Amino acid sequence: SHAYLTVDPRFAIGPIRRNIFGGFVEHLGRHIYSGIFEPGHPTADAEGFRQDVIDLVRELGVETIRYPGGNFVSGFRWEDSVGPVDERPRRLDLAWHSTETNEVGLHEFASWLEKVDSELMMAINLGTRGVLEALDLFEYTNVSAQTALTDQRAANGRQDPFGVKMWCLGNEMDGPWQLGHRSADDYGKIASQTAKALRQVDNGVTLVVCGSSGADMPTFGEWERVVLQHSYDDVDLISCHAYYEPKSGDLDSFLASGVDMDGFIDTVVKTADHVGAVRGSSKKIDISFDEWNVWYQSRFENEERIQDPEAWPIAPRLLEDIYSVIDAVVFGDLMITLLRHADRVASASLAQLVNVIAPIMTEPGGIAWRQTTFFPFSITSRLARGTALEVKVDAPTYETKRFGTVSLIDTVATHDAETGESAVFLVNRSQTESIEVTVDTTALGATEIRESHTLADNDIHAKNTLEDPERVTTHENVSARLEDGALKVTLPPVSWTAIALS
Ligand code: AHR
Repeated sequence: SHAYLTVDPRFAIGPIRRNIFGGFVEHLGRHIYSGIFEPGHPTADAEGFRQDVIDLVRELGVETIRYPGGNFVSGFRWEDSVGPVDERPRRLDLAWHSTETNEVGLHEFASWLEKVDSELMMAINLGTRGVLEALDLFEYTNVSAQTALTDQRAANGRQDPFGVKMWCLGNEMDGPWQLGHRSADDYGKIASQTAKALRQVDNGVTLVVCGSSGADMPTFGEWERVVLQHSYDDVDLISCHAYYEPKSGDLDSFLASGVDMDGFIDTVVKTADHVGAVRGSSKKIDISFDEWNVWYQSRFENEERIQDPEAWPIAPRLLEDIYSVIDAVVFGDLMITLLRHADRVASASLAQLVNVIAPIMTEPGGIAWRQTTFFPFSITSRLARGTALEVKVDAPTYETKRFGTVSLIDTVATHDAETGESAVFLVNRSQTESIEVTVDTTALGATEIRESHTLADNDIHAKNTLEDPERVTTHENVSARLEDGALKVTLPPVSWTAIALS
């Protein structure tokens, strides 16, 4: 079959804010310990960080990293994670039924962020703690005036403030699993008070209030409305979280996960705008999509919970999903969806980064490798520059159980007016058919295909594993050509493609 697309710089959605290429590191499983930090590892640097992982994170291209949780943060005392390492307490981590050694804390993580060239996005504990502890952390982290807390920071080796610009006011406070889970009213009040307090110290930071932990939460929509009624004037962004997996083996619907994310974003935007309209406010609240990924959560529910209630392991293997080709195609489509909402999605964080539902895997003492999902992230982060463009699509459709009739092609384009460079990102959701795509690029005036990458495989379940870490990668799409002002390309079944044009 065929599809006909039109790309035109006049169909601008909005400027791409680089923070949408963010990641997320939680103290969870082997994310920190034997993930990014492993002092005995052959590639470990002087601080104990794995250089092989640092290199991969840099290649991935993550602008910001949300830290230190996640569910973990709702039981976290930040003070445990600073000061001499050998004096730091070991604590129970109730969220993941583990022991946290606090060997890596704020200073160490900030130093690692410099190595990977990424910015800290800090999450505050608003589950079991309150305004004062948030203020203390903020002062310790961001203030330059001399106080007891900033003296402590200096004594711990850091004279200058860390200068954290983005702050999450808690994590998933709508979730009954969350330590300190609150009602929308209770959370809205404490979020507003905390935001006002932080702004008394520094009005220039970006504050993210918790939206729903998923569009399937029973309070979805109402939670956003109530929380924003309390906090609209105090915050900048509201969070969305979404994880996708095939349900009952229904791959057709799984391939259309982007449709769900699309509707999720639209609903939160409308809800936020409704609250703004009622208040007569000209301010707009944008979205921080600060957890998104494919996650085989059903597997975690059934197999991976720590079974022995007496066991509080250090860095157990948790949530170590190994991703396939089809997972990476869905993943690439989620990135397309985020870009298509560049006007209102100001920030996003791939959850997570290393070992834990991650694009990068490590073996203790052994190799680090790229999962299938690594490729769409690194390529999109590198090529999607400037302005996101809506693509006009005339493409065949298919029927899905969960989302009805869905386009077989999903796509977005980007154009950088300064460099004149453009990129087109495409997904073919068909499990059986290749699609010949003709993209009218006349308005771009493109004369050259700079790069083309397609992720596809005869076995859509192929994965990169410890035994075979380079089984799946992207390939140049040799069918791509420019002809009479049009880009022509063949998209194999279940594939993700990126094409860079100049
Ligand atoms: O990313 C894994 C978990 O998913 C996070 O800790 C939590 O915020 C979400 O439920």
